[in-house]
Amino acid sequence: MRKKIVAGNWKMNTSLEEGKALAADVLAKTTGSEEAQIVLGVPATHITAVVETLGGKNGIGVAAQNCSDKVSGAYTGEISASMVKSTGANYVILGHSERREYFSESNEELAEKVNQALANDLIPIFCCGEPLEVREAGDMYPFVKEQLTESLFHLSAEDFSKIVIAYEPIWAIGTGKTATSEQAQEMHAELRAHLASKYGQEAADNCSILYGGSAKPANAPELFACPDVDGGLIGGASLKAEDFVAVVTSF
Ligand code: 13P
Repeated sequence: MRKKIVAGNWKMNTSLEEGKALAADVLAKTTGSEEAQIVLGVPATHITAVVETLGGKNGIGVAAQNCSDKVSGAYTGEISASMVKSTGANYVILGHSERREYFSESNEELAEKVNQALANDLIPIFCCGEPLEVREAGDMYPFVKEQLTESLFHLSAEDFSKIVIAYEPIWAIGTGKTATSEQAQEMHAELRAHLASKYGQEAADNCSILYGGSAKPANAPELFACPDVDGGLIGGASLKAEDFVAVVTSF
């Protein structure tokens, strides 16, 4: 059966010292017996220190927030999947809407990033989600399904089984406007059916689909009660250990 996962996405926040303190605080407030796998998505500069701070305790995973689609070479400023892996991270967030929007990441480029992550034994947390105008036009299901088709459906069944998906409606990110639990459930069920059409029902049932977008302690219990919502990708509320752990324990 699929895993419950709650991943924090710190985005471009925290100094190194603040990041280490936040990771230590999350560690102190958890026991390792939480129902969900906990993952901290930290700035690349902090991964090694956060991995060290966590010391493998409570099974807490660490994610990078991006990796290159290239193997290595003259790509100034880029960080390859093998470099990420060498820091001790075990996950990588890919295709976040902020990367799609501000860094022009396309579905095709993301397919390459997914390949790089898998080739280096990193678990991709693959983000998808529609902008407000697509939701208002009622075209959100085909839009998000296409993101999955174009970036994931080239994978073998074995590689697909390693993927975690995060549905993040763009209009709900950082806006305080959360998708209703009905909207989240409907989209997650649509996406799971889409995965089943390609990889079969069992593989689709085993895929964790997380919700992201203004998820916080106040709304996490209702969102996580939805049968197809397997956890969350948490932005703002992951920057305070107390709030993040409250979300982690919302199942
Ligand atoms: P917020 O939780 O701040 O809305 O951010 C969600 C997100 O983008 C997580 O990746």
